[in-house]
Amino acid sequence: MTYTTNIYENAVLSASAIADFILKSSKDQQQNSKYLNIAVSGGNTPKYLFSILSNEDYRTTIAWDYIRFFWVDERCVGPTHPESNFGMTFKSLLHLDYINKDNIYRMMGENNPESEAARYSELLNKILPVKNGFPVFDLILLGLGDDGHTASIFPDNLSLLVSDKTVAVATHPTSGQQRITLTGKTINNANEVVFLINGKNKASIVSAIINQTPEAKNFPASYVHSASGKCILYLDNEAATF
Ligand code: 6PG
Repeated sequence: MTYTTNIYENAVLSASAIADFILKSSKDQQQNSKYLNIAVSGGNTPKYLFSILSNEDYRTTIAWDYIRFFWVDERCVGPTHPESNFGMTFKSLLHLDYINKDNIYRMMGENNPESEAARYSELLNKILPVKNGFPVFDLILLGLGDDGHTASIFPDNLSLLVSDKTVAVATHPTSGQQRITLTGKTINNANEVVFLINGKNKASIVSAIINQTPEAKNFPASYVHSASGKCILYLDNEAATF
């Protein structure tokens, strides 16, 4: 596993750097007449990125028609529910009129969880390139929970890291809320895996993961990487005290 860390003064500068990475990647795909297939996470951190991507100066620079949006995970709630990852992303970015809604593939949290996991798995394997028996995302944007979870793979269910499913049903360990999530094997099949991590409450986990301490074995985030074994971390100063 190779970690690359990009450290910024604050969350906005870190998110701006990722926005520029997405801009460049979208232009590269446009050159090759290919889609940039991105899976995004929920939670609070990505809001910085989505807000920056919704800025006017990205309207005309990003090749929006070449980006397809997928989700890393979704809470089993409807799309307008305040806890919906899709709902948050739509409100902060995807509602914009120049983003083609046909390029948005949400996990349907309102559906029966097992059926939705199967539906979304079938969709991914149908419309994305497939390698090693799993769909290939160009870019997966992950967050890090303060218990070391990522996606909806929690410390009490590490088996989702080695499941042969593409998409699975998970349960939040404290709230009991059901989730739909990409599995570890799907995430680890991606061309690029990028973590967006801010705040001092994540610093000790980031340090454990990067230094691969014995404690890190309890953190699902320690086990995810791109197909080439790389993991890129975009951190603000507070999270980067390793
Ligand atoms: C979710 C996310 C989850 C998130 C982490 C970090 O559905 O909540 O996919 O994995 O990335 O919990 O969340 P924050 O960015 O809010 O710290």
